Amino acid sequence: MSDPVHPRRPLPVVDTKPAPPRPAAPTPIAYPNLGHVIAVSSGKGGVGKSTVAVNLAVALARAGARVGLMDADIYGPNLPRMLGVDAPPPVVDQKIIPLEAHGVKVISLGLLINKDQPAIWRGPIVMKIIGQFLGDVQWGALDYLVVDMPPGTGDAQLSLVQSTSVHGAIIVTTPQEVAVGDALRGVRMFQRVNVPVLGIVENMSYLECPHCGKPTPIFGAGGGERLARQLGLPMLARVPLYPRIVEGSDTGRPVVEEEPGSTAARAFVTIAERVVEALSAAAAPA
Ligand SMILES: Nc1ncnc2c1ncn2[C@@H]1O[C@H](COP(=O)(O)OP(=O)(O)O)[C@@H](O)[C@H]1O
Ligand SMILES: [Mg+2]
Repeated sequence: MSDPVHPRRPLPVVDTKPAPPRPAAPTPIAYPNLGHVIAVSSGKGGVGKSTVAVNLAVALARAGARVGLMDADIYGPNLPRMLGVDAPPPVVDQKIIPLEAHGVKVISLGLLINKDQPAIWRGPIVMKIIGQFLGDVQWGALDYLVVDMPPGTGDAQLSLVQSTSVHGAIIVTTPQEVAVGDALRGVRMFQRVNVPVLGIVENMSYLECPHCGKPTPIFGAGGGERLARQLGLPMLARVPLYPRIVEGSDTGRPVVEEEPGSTAARAFVTIAERVVEALSAAAAPA
């Protein structure tokens, strides 16, 4: 029955012309100097992607690898704060020189633009920024380039995979089902573009009692494991909710370096070890 208040009207026809053909996706460029490119992604914001990216990068560097960390979260670049760097990177011979912190080379839009500027980047600009971060930064020879992504499956993810070959993705989630559902979409996106998903990191898995070490689940339990099982992917680690991580990320001191003996730091080291193993089992980077 038709609604007398809102009579059914045909949808307005905006344009009857066929859509213009989309520009062809650019061919990814190989950057052999970057070593293995690892994307750290998630379906949702605030699950700890940047924390995982930073601590993974520092853990790899502490194990002796040459590591770069690229902040592809161009909408909310916070790696500079998490690493305690804050200076415009020098430009020499048209190349941007990355800053160095905790043994890791880092580049972020947060170092290049005014922090208070709202970041409203459209697709082609996102592509350009990511392309420049890969090709116009003097990374030198790296073993690993860890890329911190914005949440979701948007322009930055697409731009990265269209710009170069990504050798592996890590999906970060929290244990509750909503976050896990978002993570599933993240996994599928990478798989659709033929990027191997190396595994799932469940962050904020539980709160560890500072006295007896007993774990208390805060955000539910087992979501990451269910997701990993459902997708046939490895569970790389369960990282506890650890208040010192918040403190350290506000003051530029990653927990793997500050408190290497903590359960959280050991979880990040496990992630690094499993990632190295998974990548070395795959073919050499191309
Ligand atoms: N395991 C953890 N324990 C305690 N705080 C954490 C943990 N992981 C992340 N955080 C904190 O949660 C907030 C969001 O983390 P962040 O890494 O910025 O998430 P994302 O990059 O996914 O948006 C930050 O304040 C960070 O310090
Ligand atoms: Mg982030």
